[in-house]
Amino acid sequence: MPVVEQATQVLRANDRGGYTVPTDGLYPFQWNWDSAFAALGFAAFDTNRAWQEVETLLEAQWPNGMVPHIVFHQDDPTYFPGPLVWQANQGPKPSSGITQPPVAATIIRQLASTDARRSDGLLPKLDAWHRWFHSARDPDGLGVMAITHPWESGRDNLPDWDQPTAAVDTSMIGDYTRRDTSLIDPSTRPNKEQYDRYLALVQLGVELEWDPAAIARDSPFFVADVGMTAVLLRAERDLLVMVQESPRATDVDAAVIAQRIANLEHGFERLWNPAVAAYCSLDLRTGRWASTASSGSFLAWYAGVKTHHQELLAELSRYVDAATFAVPSFDPEHPLFNHVLYWRGPVWAVMNWMIAVGLRDADETDWYQRIRSDTMTLIETSGFAEYFSPIDAQPCGGTTFTWTAAIWLAFNADP
Ligand code: GLC
Repeated sequence: MPVVEQATQVLRANDRGGYTVPTDGLYPFQWNWDSAFAALGFAAFDTNRAWQEVETLLEAQWPNGMVPHIVFHQDDPTYFPGPLVWQANQGPKPSSGITQPPVAATIIRQLASTDARRSDGLLPKLDAWHRWFHSARDPDGLGVMAITHPWESGRDNLPDWDQPTAAVDTSMIGDYTRRDTSLIDPSTRPNKEQYDRYLALVQLGVELEWDPAAIARDSPFFVADVGMTAVLLRAERDLLVMVQESPRATDVDAAVIAQRIANLEHGFERLWNPAVAAYCSLDLRTGRWASTASSGSFLAWYAGVKTHHQELLAELSRYVDAATFAVPSFDPEHPLFNHVLYWRGPVWAVMNWMIAVGLRDADETDWYQRIRSDTMTLIETSGFAEYFSPIDAQPCGGTTFTWTAAIWLAFNADP
């Protein structure tokens, strides 16, 4: 069957009517950034369904503006940690209590030309979500976005979070049963120590009633994430363009968005780590840098930041030269690199898409082509896996993955 049909079939099969699960079994609910990417994939063959995906996601928005990282549309006892663990009942739907990188505005901008009225309806929601980021995750106005849980970054067990999570007390978590490791090879998933810390941070959120100000004040884990900051900066730019182009978006203030962009542009430079010659995550509790760059560092172009263009390209070349397939999620020359272990080395199609699009916007079309072609080759060789080894193309994690299929369709439509 032609790949385009296979990819379409993956999206259709994971469609639960109004929202798409990342993959059947392992992830039985709606995940935030997965859904935005699903919309990008649907846009290749069913625009109405693409709109529906982002609309359903934004319907789960909390009154304070946050759009949760998981929306539990129905009960599913096979998933852990479910809504009873999160106890985060502040939105119109049961959900988790944290967010994920806000790629939605960028993808909605791509859809906007197909239905201006539909995009107009979403602008106030996007604006409220972005505003929430600035108050909840940057209370000191530094222009960098903190994550309050490794899951919030979307890059769950990246080595960047090892040191900062070491400060998390896990003595109170008690017994629990993970579900992911009974479905997938445990050697490709986060280990028990990491999982204990993930759960302890969820428990802390519950204790603090998911109050962002209390979490920002009390959580031992508060890390400025280069990936989150870059994705928000890009999203703010796309939101601003949509607002400026929409005569009906009178309830959203373009000048305020422009101020937020200026603040993020300024803040992003704080993440430049001269010792590594790359933008790096920064632990806001200790002032300590992540030990090296990660694929999140290469989202600077996606964010529209070109201050250290050549130095960052040199770092990207080093990454890519040390592997076979672009772009490893973690430094292939670092001792903690593991080519099949989740966010500690493998290639993730969605990161590749954002990095590639950023490079194309920065007129680096050869780089766009290199990353596009590597991504499509990995998928065509190894299937719609959750992630891939950058060394030998091994498929890892779940299979028939929504966002992997979506990214193949997006690259296919965008030569
Ligand atoms: C994993 C990934 C995260 C993704 C989720 C669903 O937790 O790290 O980025 O959103 O799976 O696919």
